[in-house]
Amino acid sequence: METKAKKDSASQKESAKAKAETKTKDVAEPKADTETAKETKNVKAETQDAKVKGKKPGKEFREFFVDELKDILWAEKALLKALPKMQKAATGKELAASFESHLTETEGQISTLEQVFELMDEKPKTKKCDAMEGLISETESIISDTEKGSAIRDAGLILAAQKVEHYEIATYGTLAALADAMQEPKVAKLLRSILRDEKNSDKKLTSLALESVNEDASEE
Ligand SMILES: [Fe+2]
Ligand SMILES: [Fe+2]
Repeated sequence: METKAKKDSASQKESAKAKAETKTKDVAEPKADTETAKETKNVKAETQDAKVKGKKPGKEFREFFVDELKDILWAEKALLKALPKMQKAATGKELAASFESHLTETEGQISTLEQVFELMDEKPKTKKCDAMEGLISETESIISDTEKGSAIRDAGLILAAQKVEHYEIATYGTLAALADAMQEPKVAKLLRSILRDEKNSDKKLTSLALESVNEDASEE
């Protein structure tokens, strides 16, 4: 009897050991994921640490930031070239005037960006922005696909211009936050001043869109 009990307990131990091994194996399998998670955690911890200790993010981060500045500088310059075409294509006087004032505003934004480059100790170089290129080519299609003097063309131009504004709002919003993280308050302040411009332009375009729809409805 005693021997059987011993045997039973031994076999129970065996099966417990086997279960434990299976469990270890199960846990061990997604090792790669666990390690990636650990690495992500470390990067997060480092950023957090840098913030707490007042350290600035590294050189690579700074290079990335400057690269994104070059991207948006290209975008603003491309828009500067596109705006006169948009102004010419617009029928509504207010819409045409808004493109004209946007041109002056964009010139100001370009010089603000140049100040940002100076603060970062970098030359204001440009890097092609695929997104803005796409948005501008969409504007060109709207112009070629719609009739001159039509309300639809104006509506299309407003739509295209608002897409541009939203792209700019997203870009400047994130860049300003990154400048905060890099402890570059002057850079962040300049970027936020552009961000405010972009938000105002967006609001103006929304009211123009509403007006043009209302005018079109009252003409019918
Ligand atoms: Fe802009
Ligand atoms: Fe803008």
